[in-house]
Amino acid sequence: MSWMRENTLNCLQSCAVKVIKSGHVPRHVAFIMDGNRRYASKKNYNSFIQGHTEGFDKLAETLQWCLDLGVKEVTVYAFSIENFKRSKEEVDELMTLAENKFQKLLDEREKLMEHGVRICVIGNLTLIPENVRKLMDEAVLITKDNSKALLNVAFAYTSRDEIVETIKVMAEKVSSSQVLPDDIDEKLFSEHMYTRQSSDPDLIIRTSGEVRFSDFLLWQFSYSYIYFSKSFWPEFNIWDFLTAIFYYQRNADELQRLRCYGETENKV
Ligand code: FPP
Ligand code: MG
Repeated sequence: MSWMRENTLNCLQSCAVKVIKSGHVPRHVAFIMDGNRRYASKKNYNSFIQGHTEGFDKLAETLQWCLDLGVKEVTVYAFSIENFKRSKEEVDELMTLAENKFQKLLDEREKLMEHGVRICVIGNLTLIPENVRKLMDEAVLITKDNSKALLNVAFAYTSRDEIVETIKVMAEKVSSSQVLPDDIDEKLFSEHMYTRQSSDPDLIIRTSGEVRFSDFLLWQFSYSYIYFSKSFWPEFNIWDFLTAIFYYQRNADELQRLRCYGETENKV
């Protein structure tokens, strides 16, 4: 399965997309793609990797929905640093899946270029096996000048790690006198984070009924709208997606106001 899919929507679904598109479309949507293993168990698959593979297929489908809707930026939590604690078999299988999918992405590079999609991998890249990292590096390099849409793949990522690594970079800059301690503010700090190329997400969608952030983009989520879906990730469908966008739209003005004026204004 490719990263870019052809449109799979029927007439009613396409109509619903048009209606939602006439409202305020979030610029940046982040996904916590959870529930692949519970889905695999529900389906009586022999191995979790089948759930993860269908999870990738769902990611490709979701990216197409985002493009159709005009979402400019998507961030997906594909592999957390905590996921390295899973069984060796599952970690190896997930790395092989990532290797195959990034190879596929490179093989089909013209599709990405046609859609103008830039790929970024955010995370502690030193933790990623070299064979996978090389493919990721190449995908990042060949798409670096694309500017129609941005896909951030969070891999070997946790928010706490990102914050610690950013502090280290800032500390080095202070010790080499490139930065004065008083120059450090939220803006400068953000400009040194893994997500420096990104705007903060407008909408976060987490699947599988779990109601937590699992160390994902904690710095960046301050004024994001959060939507929790009960569907396991491979079962997430266009109606779940449009429902999330609809709830975001109902709250978009308030979120914009909070972004501009902060929480204190709200207490008046
Ligand atoms: C969470 O479900 C999912 C993951 C840890 C892996 C997600 C990976 C993909 C969807 C494939 C993406 C691949 C690339 C190359 C971008 P879970 O395993 O925590 O399932 P559970 O909550 O039911 O245990
Ligand atoms: Mg999970």
